[in-house]
Amino acid sequence: MKVLVILVACVAASLAYPIPDPFQWDESFRYDKLDEQHKKLFTGIADVQSNPADGAAISHLEDLFYKHFRFEEKMMEEVGYANLPAHKRMHTDFESEIKDIHTPVQGYQIFFMKDWLVNHIKGIDFQYKGKLSS
Ligand SMILES: [Fe+2]
Repeated sequence: MKVLVILVACVAASLAYPIPDPFQWDESFRYDKLDEQHKKLFTGIADVQSNPADGAAISHLEDLFYKHFRFEEKMMEEVGYANLPAHKRMHTDFESEIKDIHTPVQGYQIFFMKDWLVNHIKGIDFQYKGKLSS
């Protein structure tokens, strides 16, 4: 069932923004305050793709996402961002999905993470671009 949910989410999300190939951050993702963290997330996913059997790679990626999400949520809290509860839910939903990803990481799971990140940055995070504190 979870695989089906991921596949449906992948298909729906993939209708939005294209996934860079090779998978790396580029200027179209520019967000200033969050760019360095976003670059690490791109690299982290690419590392998991290169090393699907490496448990350390997926653990490291989970940690990067955790730290990034808490940082971003704190910034949103500081400016009283109205959509914070819904945004937090998107983060925690994604975190619960990637917690279930174990080695060897499958191709559809790599696709899911790439697609989620690209569409989350461009489709969701960009909605509050310029509204966060430094
Ligand atoms: Fe976000």
